[in-house]
Amino acid sequence: MVGQALAEGFTRADYDVTIGTRDVDAALARTASTPRGAPGFGDWHSAHPGIGVTTIAEAADAADIIVLAVAGANAPEALSLADPESLTGTTVIDVTNPLVFAPDALPSLSVVNTDSIGELLQRTFPEANVVKTLNTVTAPIMIDPKSLDDGNHTMFVAGNDAGAKDEVRALLIALGWHDLLDLGDITAARGMEMYLPLWLRMRMAFDSPMFSIKVVR
Ligand SMILES: NC(=O)c1ccc[n+]([C@@H]2O[C@H](COP(=O)([O-])OP(=O)(O)OC[C@H]3O[C@@H](n4cnc5c(N)ncnc54)[C@H](OP(=O)(O)O)[C@@H]3O)[C@@H](O)[C@H]2O)c1
Repeated sequence: MVGQALAEGFTRADYDVTIGTRDVDAALARTASTPRGAPGFGDWHSAHPGIGVTTIAEAADAADIIVLAVAGANAPEALSLADPESLTGTTVIDVTNPLVFAPDALPSLSVVNTDSIGELLQRTFPEANVVKTLNTVTAPIMIDPKSLDDGNHTMFVAGNDAGAKDEVRALLIALGWHDLLDLGDITAARGMEMYLPLWLRMRMAFDSPMFSIKVVR
């Protein structure tokens, strides 16, 4: 869901986008609609033929910026499919959340308090510049922040490398974000990920994922 949404958003903003998948043929053969009623990946791609689809290794190798959009628990495994050389000095945008789903219970977080997926990724792949952002809103808002209060709400950014954060800021501005809050180094990913229990309760209260937060001071 997030990968497809961001691919559309970045394409609209004139970036060249390639999606990396574990199995290109299997991904393109997915035509059944998703449980949320979105078209299957193959049909979606037929409607967006300008967006490349290749292996994760090839996508990472060709990329100036990598976006990691998989379940938090799968994030290290997904990035390990890229050649370490492709990651060296490359900005990796981490939009993941460490959600653990269980039947008849609210999702919980697999990493909390003293660690986060953002930090785990930065530790595991020290050659990459991991930047945490966008995990606090639903995918349609990521690529169209102006759909809520004309974009008058806040997006957080966290990461160790100032240059990588500048790159990400430019991407976010290209998507329509203007209220960007730099929370500092990658340890700030803890708070961004631990927001999810509150996000889930607000999702239930509004019966909709179409909301965001505005920081005022
Ligand atoms: N959905 C939202 O609106 C939203 C909002 C904010 C943050 N997030 C976060 O963004 C991430 C992605 O969410 P999503 O809703 O887009 O998930 P999704 O629709 O389930 O897509 C995740 C993709 O990950 C790939 N994948 C699954 N297991 C993998 C593994 N072991 N190794 C490598 N790749 C694997 C699959 O692609 P292939 O089978 O093609 O390889 C799959 O299409 C999650 O961490 C989520 O918490 C989601």
